[in-house]
Amino acid sequence: MQSRTAALNGRKRIIVTGCAGFIGSHLAEACLRQGWAVTGVDALTPYYSPEIKRANLQNALSNPMFRYLEDDLLSLDLADLLSDVDIVFHLAAQAGVRASWASSFDVYVDANVRALQRLLEAAKEAELDRFVFASSSSVYGDAERLPTLEDTVLSPVSPYGATKALGEHLARVYWRNYGLPTVTLLHGLRTAPAPRYGFPPRHRGGPGRHGVRAVRGRQSDA
Ligand SMILES: NC(=O)c1ccc[n+]([C@@H]2O[C@H](COP(=O)([O-])OP(=O)(O)OC[C@H]3O[C@@H](n4cnc5c(N)ncnc54)[C@H](O)[C@@H]3O)[C@@H](O)[C@H]2O)c1
Repeated sequence: MQSRTAALNGRKRIIVTGCAGFIGSHLAEACLRQGWAVTGVDALTPYYSPEIKRANLQNALSNPMFRYLEDDLLSLDLADLLSDVDIVFHLAAQAGVRASWASSFDVYVDANVRALQRLLEAAKEAELDRFVFASSSSVYGDAERLPTLEDTVLSPVSPYGATKALGEHLARVYWRNYGLPTVTLLHGLRTAPAPRYGFPPRHRGGPGRHGVRAVRGRQSDA
């Protein structure tokens, strides 16, 4: 059987952070269907059951073009991770609006700000085609205009939204200062037929209905 290294020749190389999550697991599978080589990173954080996350990974794990790193972006060697990579999809995050208050804010800062900043620092040294950051409609808070246009001022009303807004600014700062080809995707609330964390073993409906509602902050020219 051909080794993964030999099979990598000519394929796009993709990193998906948060690959065991709800959206990241579907995205990793979609990339694999394109014939791309995918490295997924996930720390299996306890926000909801790691068992659900492991189940989310099963399809990707059955594909020889998938490499899984169960690791934390706050401690992983990111320079090594990003060598020979074409696109980074950064989806790893601490989600959830209501839980983001009070002492749990530290968790949000670690996952949504510090991990992103570490990744951006490593990415500026790598020769990426794209760095795609998953933001959230929460950056708009109580949007006064629907549909909300992408030039609407960011005005989050939760600590979670505030960390995502800072993430958008950081992505732009690294484009502005280092030419990093960052693109921010604005995810709206997904619609799934079952509560997000209660679908055993996994919501199989695919990303079609819940995925990305809008693309904003196209910081690179392409
Ligand atoms: N699902 C939605 O409705 C929605 C809406 C708006 C924005 N988003 C954004 O889209 C992205 C994906 O959302 P989701 O619903 O799939 O979330 P999710 O919680 O299912 O997945 C996020 C994954 O990131 C991992 N993670 C967190 N911190 C990490 C770290 N330091 N290192 C490695 N892995 C880490 C978690 O273990 C988890 O598996 C997130 O950035 C989220 O903020 C989602």
